[in-house]
Amino acid sequence: MDKQISISRSLVWLSFLSLSLLFSVMLLGVYISSSHQGLSCPDWPLCPNGFNLPPPEYFFEHVHRTLVIVTGILIFVTTLYSIKRNVKNVKKPAIIACILVIIQILMGMLVVNSKLHAILVAIHLSTGILLFSALLMTFLFSYRNIKKSILF
Ligand code: HEM
Repeated sequence: MDKQISISRSLVWLSFLSLSLLFSVMLLGVYISSSHQGLSCPDWPLCPNGFNLPPPEYFFEHVHRTLVIVTGILIFVTTLYSIKRNVKNVKKPAIIACILVIIQILMGMLVVNSKLHAILVAIHLSTGILLFSALLMTFLFSYRNIKKSILF
């Protein structure tokens, strides 16, 4: 029972951290879009400065992309952990989130390469919302598992 609670606790923290980072990535994305900075960084996956400090012209784009790398790794770790520990109800939404984050990164490439084609930007936003929902379910199921383990 103690082991189950500790696995669920780790999953709650991993998914909560991923969710918070994802929220920041989305917030930055909407800011970039509404302030017309979407074309400030023409390369993919990173901006021309790579991992160095960005110049002010594409500061927000740089942060959007580097945060995506950290968020993607965390989502991947959350999924691997839920598979390794075979946490049945958490595994499904975590795998969906993992697949969606890969699609979203590829969508980011299409958004940049198409110079912000409206349909692709709309799909990028919608996939971001789907990804957020899958990760929120991962978090909620992990949290419910702790409650269940404490009650029974
Ligand atoms: C977890 C991955 C990602 C998420 C959740 C995400 C989310 C978002 C969101 C919500 C927006 C705002 C869209 C709008 O308001 O219409 C946005 C904009 C944008 N994203 Fe991402 N994004 C991700 C990855 C990437 C990647 C990897 C790239 C490119 C390398 C990228 C490039 C862009 C660009 C260029 C915009 C601005 C679009 C515009 O100006 O209309 N994104 N992103």
